[in-house]
Amino acid sequence: MSYLELKNIKKSYFLGKEEFEVLKGINLSFEEGEFVSILGESGGGKSTLMNIIGGLDSNYSGEVILKGKSLKNDTNKQMDAYRRKTIGFIFQNFNLISHLTIKQNVLVALEMTNLSKKEQDNRATELLEKVGLKEHMNKYPNQLSGGQKQRVAIARALAANPEILIADEPTGALDSKNTEEILQLLNEIAAEGKLIITVTHSQHVADYGTRIVRLADGNIVEDIRLKPAYQPSTTPEMDTHTLRFGATLKMALENMKYNLKRNLLIIFGAAIGIFSVIMMLGLGNGVKGYINHEIYSQINPNAVQVAKAAKNKNSQEIQYINQSDIDRLSSVKNVDSVQKGTFAQGGVQVHYNKKSQTLPIMQTYNSTIKQKSIKKGAAPKDGEILISTTLAKKFNAKHPNSMLNKKIKLFVTTMDKNKKPVTVSKTLKVSGFAELGSLTAMPTYDTMEQMYQTKNLDLKPSLVTVNIKGNVQNVQPAQDKIKSYKNDSNKSLYQITGVGSIVSTLNTYITLAVDVLAVIAGISLLVSAIMIIVVLYISVSERTKEIGILRALGASKGSIRNLFFSEAFFIGLFSAVFAIVIAFLIQMGANSLAQAGIHYDIMQISMGNVLTGLLVSIFISLFAALAPANKAAKLDPIESLSRE
Ligand SMILES: Nc1ncnc2c1ncn2[C@@H]1O[C@H](COP(=O)(O)OP(=O)(O)O)[C@@H](O)[C@H]1O
Ligand SMILES: [Mg+2]
Repeated sequence: MSYLELKNIKKSYFLGKEEFEVLKGINLSFEEGEFVSILGESGGGKSTLMNIIGGLDSNYSGEVILKGKSLKNDTNKQMDAYRRKTIGFIFQNFNLISHLTIKQNVLVALEMTNLSKKEQDNRATELLEKVGLKEHMNKYPNQLSGGQKQRVAIARALAANPEILIADEPTGALDSKNTEEILQLLNEIAAEGKLIITVTHSQHVADYGTRIVRLADGNIVEDIRLKPAYQPSTTPEMDTHTLRFGATLKMALENMKYNLKRNLLIIFGAAIGIFSVIMMLGLGNGVKGYINHEIYSQINPNAVQVAKAAKNKNSQEIQYINQSDIDRLSSVKNVDSVQKGTFAQGGVQVHYNKKSQTLPIMQTYNSTIKQKSIKKGAAPKDGEILISTTLAKKFNAKHPNSMLNKKIKLFVTTMDKNKKPVTVSKTLKVSGFAELGSLTAMPTYDTMEQMYQTKNLDLKPSLVTVNIKGNVQNVQPAQDKIKSYKNDSNKSLYQITGVGSIVSTLNTYITLAVDVLAVIAGISLLVSAIMIIVVLYISVSERTKEIGILRALGASKGSIRNLFFSEAFFIGLFSAVFAIVIAFLIQMGANSLAQAGIHYDIMQISMGNVLTGLLVSIFISLFAALAPANKAAKLDPIESLSRE
């Protein structure tokens, strides 16, 4: 049994329907330790045959048999492994990866072996020493001569210690001195017991080997042994695997570094979209926070004012709240207490210091008024009244606070049972001043009730303040429950008034507006995605040769795909990080301005917003990479390698 056998290999190319038979039935067998030169005219099918032996081309008839086993039915993965373990490729035009150093070029092949990082490093150095390039390890390919480049290619081909080296016109691009040196090197390698198959159209080059096979017109026409073969090698091939994700990540970084300016621009462009989304979300949090802060600092959000809805649309008649309403409202979940209240529109006067003021509106004191909005003094008790700062200034513009604890007289005109106007009055102590936003005052409900009783009038509550315990989040469900009670005509029995009721509606609108703005900002993400797609397509076409090289070295289609996903991952990651940093810088600036003006942080980017930005960015980049990565994986390695 021969080490490698070719049985009746036939291969045709088709141009339209026309068939060009390039190989017409090749039968050959090779042993380890042989240095075989395949000699033939240009266009005679030598490269075609080498690609079949090397496992880059599976589209032929006949069989390639390695150690008695045909490759015919091998899967793609097995063919990848065959190229990694058994075959080392050397090309006429060297096929080094130009953005990697000499050592990194050798390490790419070593990364697919099971050697540790340290062992890989040592072996790369050893191999480069063996081909006489130890001092040039950190140079780039374009800093070397042709002969030196071919030595690098030989070192790389030897990385996984393969049994077969395939060299397609390895000296075709070299002068005679370098040709001599490369042939000597190949001869030394053959002497170590490997099978070397070189292709040439030069008789002089062919004479270097142990055997010459002449190919003409698609057939073997001559097979001559010049010297006996060398002793077969005893060192085993190495175990290998395809390029791992860590390696593709590293290679993606190398490539991004190589195209640094372009990649920085792309990252910058992609960051704009992510940045706008994060900004919008952060600004939304801030604005919502600010508005709530403004409202809640005046009004207690846990207090809800409830009135009874009119019986029908045209009715002006006030619907008073009775005990059964109070009982019903008290039974709603999380309701702590229900406080009676009333208001008067017109017919209210206040006398103080021989001056009098008419109040357009007056309401009884209730828990919607926050302690914080009482600027001086305290909430009114029975027999007391809280007055607005506006009213205090009307009486004493220079020293409004001098009214504290002074007596004022309150007059309220109302109707008796016979609809005749009746005025009730009472002298009350000023308990304090509050920011109530208008010319008004607030006695307690009980005080009002006592005032009415002096004229035998019965005060009935026209509204109540429902106090909801615990978190503000308990308010909305309680409000919903209150609104769900229906009257006989199936309309809501109660209506909720006061600012408290609109806070949640307001928040809903702010959230909606912010989301809409964030979506609009998100449209720029679409632009980013398209940009990334274009760049990756360019990257694929620029790196076609590299892809061919990696495939020849035994990297799987999946690894090639990962290479571009890795690049996309970094674009996504870096643009998100960039966007986040800028967003926080702008937040710092905006908030220091806002603190000076409105004493509030108007931008509040949350960790959730940051995470959203990061995930969206990476997701979009990976999504954008789908088509380019697939294109790269599907490239035909032979075509890719022949690309200039
Ligand atoms: N992909 C291809 N499609 C069509 N014809 C091809 C292709 N590759 C090679 N050929 C043709 O097959 C013949 C053999 O090519 P090749 O094996 O490269 O020859 P050699 O390496 O001996 O110069 C040539 O006529 C060439 O034009
Ligand atoms: Mg050729």
